[in-house]
Amino acid sequence: MTIRAAGPADQAAIHAVVAAAFGQPDEADLVDALRADGDALLELVAVEAGAIVGHILFSPLAATNGRRLAALAPLSVQPGRQKDGLGTALMEEGHRRLAAAGIETVIVLGHPAYYPRAGYSAELARTVTSPFRGPSFMALELVPGTLSEPLTIRYAKAFGL
Ligand SMILES: CC(C)(COP(=O)(O)OP(=O)(O)OC[C@H]1O[C@@H](n2cnc3c(N)ncnc32)[C@H](O)[C@@H]1OP(=O)(O)O)[C@@H](O)C(=O)NCCC(=O)NCCS
Repeated sequence: MTIRAAGPADQAAIHAVVAAAFGQPDEADLVDALRADGDALLELVAVEAGAIVGHILFSPLAATNGRRLAALAPLSVQPGRQKDGLGTALMEEGHRRLAAAGIETVIVLGHPAYYPRAGYSAELARTVTSPFRGPSFMALELVPGTLSEPLTIRYAKAFGL
């Protein structure tokens, strides 16, 4: 399995993997809309034997205090290849690349039992004002202390929030 940046030739295969993972096209359509708006800050694919079996997308979040934040959404692993570390590997490589690009914190809205294994914390996200709150709303500081001051975030347009 290799992880690499997604390219234009991958778009149809990505749509298929995301739709298969979620069992509906909505999240795959969201990926297309984020990309069309220029809001695909970082998009990675997991490839096995030439086939795309996983995908992750990060988009920019506007923060009131000028901090550089990104949203993780969506994360998809092909059914049949789940629970084998691909989702975790996609997140970890994404975090490395985002940190190198100067992103200070990543926000996710997702399964509260899954994302903490990659370092996300709902407690850490409590200083963040957004359309979401609660145990599914989590943050990972790539630069410690980014969230020590309260801030408000705005999601990319395609989320429709
Ligand atoms: C969620 C998803 C991305 C995880 O990717 P993955 O490659 O299967 O996960 P990993 O192999 O990195 O981690 C597997 C572990 O996470 C757990 N896990 C997977 N999905 C989970 C979920 N929805 N809730 C809680 N735990 C979950 C597994 O039970 C496994 O635990 P174990 O190591 O103790 O056995 C993948 O299952 C998927 O694409 N699901 C459908 C789409 C989706 O729900 N995306 C996330 C939206 S928030």
